[in-house]
Amino acid sequence: MSVSLAKSAQPVFLRDIEDLPGPPGLPLLGNLLQLKPAGIHLQVERWGREYGPFFKFRFGRLPVLAITDHETIGAVLRDRPDGFRRTVRTMQIGREMGFDPGLFVAEGAAWANQRRMVMASFAPGHVKAYFPSLLKVTQRLHGRWQKAARAGSVIALQSDLMRYTVDAIAGLAFGTDINTLESDQEVIQQHLDKVFPALVKRTFAMIPTWRYVRLPADRALDRSVAVIKSEIARFIAQARARMQADPALREQPGNLLEAMITAAEQENSGVNDHDVAGNVLTMLLAGEDTTANTLAWMLYLLRRNPQTLARVREEVRREAPDAAALTPEQIGKLDYLEACALETMRLKPVAPFLPLEAIHDTSIAGIRVPAGTMVWNVLRFDSVDQRHFANPTAFDPQRWLDATDSTHGASSAKRIAMPFGAGPRICPGRYLALLEIKMAMAMLLGRFDIESVDTPDGGVAREHMSFTMTPVGLTMRLRER
Ligand code: HEM
Repeated sequence: MSVSLAKSAQPVFLRDIEDLPGPPGLPLLGNLLQLKPAGIHLQVERWGREYGPFFKFRFGRLPVLAITDHETIGAVLRDRPDGFRRTVRTMQIGREMGFDPGLFVAEGAAWANQRRMVMASFAPGHVKAYFPSLLKVTQRLHGRWQKAARAGSVIALQSDLMRYTVDAIAGLAFGTDINTLESDQEVIQQHLDKVFPALVKRTFAMIPTWRYVRLPADRALDRSVAVIKSEIARFIAQARARMQADPALREQPGNLLEAMITAAEQENSGVNDHDVAGNVLTMLLAGEDTTANTLAWMLYLLRRNPQTLARVREEVRREAPDAAALTPEQIGKLDYLEACALETMRLKPVAPFLPLEAIHDTSIAGIRVPAGTMVWNVLRFDSVDQRHFANPTAFDPQRWLDATDSTHGASSAKRIAMPFGAGPRICPGRYLALLEIKMAMAMLLGRFDIESVDTPDGGVAREHMSFTMTPVGLTMRLRER
């Protein structure tokens, strides 16, 4: 497949998006009626199977170019920040709710400044230095699940995992031990849980009803936004107080928040107080749902594949026998566990698509793409296609460990599945996410036997597209070893 992303010197024989195949729509609504936000990923994937690697659909009047071919998607994702940007609408809706933008929606020089700081704070060495704190958070998750196991109670899987990921990210990025895992009070992620789905719902809404009528749901959302903003202000105030007490932190910031506050205090740093607040929210937003839901999907898939579960349990109990004293070296030896995480993200990527917008007039694979066109990158397509993966629907972590072979081996798998995106805006939290996943799983498999991971109706877990692609309503029962 030839990939052309020329900004100038356009090839002569260009197709227009209008010439592409695609689902028929209505005059004003386009395909909106077929695109229910909760199942939008599944619908676009179905169209991909029907219409091929490049097709069109419409959000109202807005034409969208959809791409399923992984090579072209890789080229689009790498052509940032100059060629493509994130869509403007999510940022507008976030601002309208009262939030400052952060790295995920920043563009141009602001993005470059913030990206540098975020990358430094999430570099593997820094994440490794955070290991003891992450172990403490993992131990708290153990305590929470031990209580549940002893009481024979059912664990609300996603909500517990989100307590774990929010505690982990707040400790690493803000230096705050918020300890939601040991709290029975109202905790921040109960409010985050309201805000993220609302952000997505409003992004795809045809008519912005909330601008005209304030329904009870809108008022509840306002309250959640207010709580989150005051929590963010508290994290920032605590960090400033620490820096006041220990001026050396200005020279050597201990975490992302301290680094950003230091930058915001310097003239011409390109970082201001709004960026600081915006990035506290961004880290909560990007670090919580994603990792928690990947863990939830992984537990669901392992429970349905008993042989794989037995093998990964054996690896954990052999390589990391004492869950209370995990070390980075032991975690580094859990290759099969890591393969289970990669295989989970192949089948159940929490970001199954990535919408971007063309900054300039350009062309993609011989298709004319005017500036402002939305390009819908279908990340889960080739990664579950038999042209690229043998037995593609099977949960088979071994494929990530097999020796390199150009068609079905591990190295080609890594190129095709892009659960963390690709190019200059690839997820900066990926090392942290994998470490969190391995630590939680090593603790769980070392200390407990999994009795069940259930869906509400006992059937196959439904995929619900909210801020991330979540399994609906998973519960778990554990037995202590
Ligand atoms: C399994 C867990 C995770 C998955 C699957 C995931 C996935 C993604 C994806 C697909 C993107 C878009 C990349 C692109 O545009 O090419 C992204 C961006 C991002 N992620 Fe993650 N992520 C995860 C965990 C985390 C964590 C723990 C953090 C912690 C802070 C984080 C922070 C971010 C940020 C800040 C961005 C925006 C980067 C930019 O625009 O420059 N993510 N992530």
